[in-house]
Amino acid sequence: MKILKNVSLIDHNTFGLNVNAKQFIDITSKNELIEVLTQYQNKNKFVLGGGSNILLTKDIDALVIHMNNKGIEIIRKEDDFVYIKVQAGENWHELIMWCLDNDLGGLENLSLIPGNVGTAPIQNIGAYGVELKDVFVECEAITIENAKARVFTHEECHFDYRNSIFKNELKGKHIICNVTFKLTSKNHRLNSAYGAIQSELDSQNISNPTIKDISNTVIKIRESKLPDPKKIGNSGSFFKNPIVGVKQFEYLRDNFPEIPHYIVSNSEVKIPAGWLIEKAGFKGKRFGNYGVHKNQALVLVNYGKAEGKDILELSKLIQSTIYRLFDIQLEAEVNII
Ligand code: EPU
Repeated sequence: MKILKNVSLIDHNTFGLNVNAKQFIDITSKNELIEVLTQYQNKNKFVLGGGSNILLTKDIDALVIHMNNKGIEIIRKEDDFVYIKVQAGENWHELIMWCLDNDLGGLENLSLIPGNVGTAPIQNIGAYGVELKDVFVECEAITIENAKARVFTHEECHFDYRNSIFKNELKGKHIICNVTFKLTSKNHRLNSAYGAIQSELDSQNISNPTIKDISNTVIKIRESKLPDPKKIGNSGSFFKNPIVGVKQFEYLRDNFPEIPHYIVSNSEVKIPAGWLIEKAGFKGKRFGNYGVHKNQALVLVNYGKAEGKDILELSKLIQSTIYRLFDIQLEAEVNII
């Protein structure tokens, strides 16, 4: 167990921001995590996974706990299903590639999402018609305060759109150590309803897609819209898609008949924040070292030497403009530190 001092986090956040951690420890097992939490009970702690959903605006004056425990294990088999237990430090996309190699279905629509397995439940990651909650069984977490293990069932996680109990009542209280998923081993249930997937499959004349075809299609769509964090720093969608009341939506539609939208319930409609930001004129705008991505306005980017506070300022400018133009308050999806 080795604590490092003044460590740059530039390679530990997908925005590529160069801030320092006062202290840093790499965790490679559950027992090691329990040991650290027991030994350093009174130290301020900050938990880091794949660093794909954070905007670091300052140095971190705490012990950064970097979850780097690995392992994928099949723990149970049923007729059409397999249960796998995956350690928190596994890379999300590599897990999906492993699933495809083993012909296990359920995660393919979530291909190429950056980040690690342990942080995926926190915001119930989702893309192209599938959310983590659709395949999640349970996760094991360690309570920071007393270093005790606790299992959270699906129900206990209170999953919602980009949300869970770990972002609300239990924020900062537990560290997820491993996650169990229920995947299909045969009779895969393909999810190709999301518009862009079906049209991409059609254009390739694939009428009977496999889970691998779905994954390849998602990868192709993501690569065309979303910048690769290894080349241009970013954190995926910076804001959540806002949900507005039907009255407000009708008013917007009267002014912008083309407005894309998804009906959430009888009284609520979800509007793509990317469309609002594009309409406000920000798409592709560059402000020196940072800006708004040219192919997807929901993604803020660091072209190289930006600082977190620059990107934070830009996000506030976008929020105030959207509020002024559309009377909608955008909420950040990334965690701002
Ligand atoms: N749109 C624009 N301009 C833009 C971007 C989008 O007009 O610059 C319009 C599109 O034309 C489309 C609609 O907005 O009609 C939706 O766009 P898209 O399919 O790209 O999805 P999104 O709603 O912008 C969400 C997720 C993404 C996820 C995609 C696909 C959120 C906050 N974002 O984006 O997730 O990949 O759907 O399922 O829900 C992430 O969370 O980091 C992320 C990338």
